[in-house]
Amino acid sequence: MKKEIVLCITGASGTIYGLRLLEILPKDFIVHLIVSDSAFTVMEKEMDISKDKFLKNLPENCLFYSQDQIYAPVASGSKLVQTEGVIVAPCSTGTLGAIANGLSNNLIHRVCDVALKERKKLYLLVREMPLSLIHIQNMEKVTQAGAIVSVASPGFYHKPQTIGDMIDFVVGKVLDSFGIKHNLYERWQG
Ligand SMILES: Cc1cc2nc3c(=O)[nH]c(=O)nc-3n(C[C@H](O)[C@H](O)[C@H](O)COP(=O)(O)O)c2cc1C
Repeated sequence: MKKEIVLCITGASGTIYGLRLLEILPKDFIVHLIVSDSAFTVMEKEMDISKDKFLKNLPENCLFYSQDQIYAPVASGSKLVQTEGVIVAPCSTGTLGAIANGLSNNLIHRVCDVALKERKKLYLLVREMPLSLIHIQNMEKVTQAGAIVSVASPGFYHKPQTIGDMIDFVVGKVLDSFGIKHNLYERWQG
């Protein structure tokens, strides 16, 4: 049986993190992809990629859902338990707040809520700066509920030369968390 994973892209800056993950996730995985409406707006603004263009170029191993497709299989715990878990990259503070408060009013919020209740891995790559107390409290709440909160902050000890190197460092750390092998950044050798 093929491994499956859920990738959500929300409207924080850094949609490139989600796109790079989509590109780099193993092709023998089924990727359930959910992109929020705001993510499409931000993607167009910062990457010049329209929604149409994005949807036309999806990898073959990807099943796409809009944020309103609340009937998607992964909205149910019975399906989500069969996956490796959920990545939200980038994760807006709005989506973080919705997860922290169990709102479940779109498909992204719902799959995150289900991941927490089923004790599946939930990795939130939050992007905002600076952080308000509300953001920090929401991060604390979801961490206590079992999520991994990671603020997109590339290291510099591997001497990145390009923006791509910095993105790959962050994406590599996400993959590490799921035990997915990669060569996206050079590991610290001491
Ligand atoms: C160009 C642009 C950049 C944005 N960057 C961020 C950001 O870095 N972090 C964030 O939390 N929200 C950011 N936002 C705001 C979110 O897109 C907005 O709060 C949206 O409602 C989030 O919805 P979503 O979580 O459903 O995608 C940005 C919006 C725009 C238009």
